[in-house]
Amino acid sequence: MNLIKKLLVAPATVLALWAVTAQATTDDAIAERLKPVGQVCVMGEECKGVGAVAVSAGGGARTADDIIAKHCGACHTPGILGAPKIGDTAAWKERADHQGGLDGILAKAISGINAMPPKGTCADCSDDELRGAIQKMSGL
Ligand code: HEC
Repeated sequence: MNLIKKLLVAPATVLALWAVTAQATTDDAIAERLKPVGQVCVMGEECKGVGAVAVSAGGGARTADDIIAKHCGACHTPGILGAPKIGDTAAWKERADHQGGLDGILAKAISGINAMPPKGTCADCSDDELRGAIQKMSGL
């Protein structure tokens, strides 16, 4: 093979591989989005779907980022209604200093305070999950 051909073939191969990879990623992402929320279980048969759902609900599979994105960010990203803003460590620290530290503001987050709804609308969040979200938002 002469040099010119080699030079042309190499990028073409890379491009083809890239295209295949990109496609695979997209298909995976779509499959993930299309996954049924619940699964039908047939009586008398082992029901894998239910186990999987139960584990993901109670097993702490959510990250702090997931919880913030789904529950806390609506108010804490723009800082509406006086909510301390995500990343504004000084504002969070000021609150923590007046309420017994992280545990103090965690307690308020659980019970709710003024316009802040109990558990920040994440009714099924564990205390640890809420703590993680608060740490992530506050940087404390
Ligand atoms: C509906 C809007 C809203 C949502 C959703 C929300 N917050 Fe808040 N949050 C507020 C507001 C408003 C305040 C300030 C309340 C005040 O001091 O008057 C606040 C304050 C806080 C505080 C400080 C409490 C204190 O003692 O000063 C914490 C901690 C907190 N939020 C955590 C969270 C977490 C964690 C989530 C998500 C799971 C969340 N919030 C979701 C509105 C919200």
